[in-house]
Amino acid sequence: MTDKKMDIIRALKNAGTDPISGEELGQRLGISRTMVWKYIKALGEEGYVIKSSPGSGHVLVSAPDKLYPSEIMDGLDTSIIGVDIRYFDEVDSTNDIAKKMGPLSDEGSVVIAEIQDSGRGRKGGHWVSPRGGVWMSVILKPNVVPAYAPRFTLMAGVAVARAIREFGIEASLKWPNDVLVGDKKVCGILTEMDAETDQINFVVIGMGINVNVSIEDLSEDIRSSSTSLSEIKGEELDRIAFVQALLRALEDEYVRSKTLGFDSILEEWRSLSSTIGRDVDVVTPQRMISGKAVGITENGTLLVETAEGLEEIVAGSCIHR
Ligand code: BTN
Repeated sequence: MTDKKMDIIRALKNAGTDPISGEELGQRLGISRTMVWKYIKALGEEGYVIKSSPGSGHVLVSAPDKLYPSEIMDGLDTSIIGVDIRYFDEVDSTNDIAKKMGPLSDEGSVVIAEIQDSGRGRKGGHWVSPRGGVWMSVILKPNVVPAYAPRFTLMAGVAVARAIREFGIEASLKWPNDVLVGDKKVCGILTEMDAETDQINFVVIGMGINVNVSIEDLSEDIRSSSTSLSEIKGEELDRIAFVQALLRALEDEYVRSKTLGFDSILEEWRSLSSTIGRDVDVVTPQRMISGKAVGITENGTLLVETAEGLEEIVAGSCIHR
């Protein structure tokens, strides 16, 4: 959206139900009334409902339920995460776009879409991404070794859980990359990286959050194990406010990890986790490990107390028993 259109929306929002004339808008923006009218028409095409009365002026009736960068950035006070936001109505996968953009993008750049046709999940799985969700990838350029990549999944999990909690919903974290409400999945995280042997060039943290998603829009095989925030609340959430909360939480965690060290993130992860202290079955590429989850290490590996002793698990799917 152009700056002028954004300025018009901002002026109309500030005026509330008081009409602003085309002449006044033109004066404030330094453009002609004809240009104001063109922008108002274009805004209408983008889904903004603006009531225009010849005698009095324009009033904003409603904004569209779209994750427009101009709406997200309005009032967003972050300085890294969300400095650049690329919006798409429909894409294959926001992670794929972010990976292409990675080399030339600023750290903190975000790719967001209303729908993903080929959303990707862990282990090559498909991630169902209908309208109403938040499908988003964030590019970070941390100066760390590739072995630290799993840390970003944990960090993003903490940020997502914190953002959800701001909306009064008790979210918890399931190792390694799920955010749950109760025992149902509400968000999955897919962290991918571009790296040399000793240095990460950039990481792409993909987050898929079922915000205002109706369970019928998810594929049958995941319906019983998934939920959405609107399903829990019994009403739709303001997705713009949710994305802003998430970007703020991400920045907060990222800055904290850099200043206080990753241990402080781990501590938060542990306190938000529903895995630690639980009896679990972890399906690893080699075998299934059953026991009690007792901890998580700074590399993001899970510690499970089994009948045979303590196991450190690098990767796997965890089932809470
Ligand atoms: C999982 O399997 O739990 C991880 C799912 C990750 C989905 C998100 S949605 C935004 C980003 N783009 C993708 O294609 N995948 C991630």
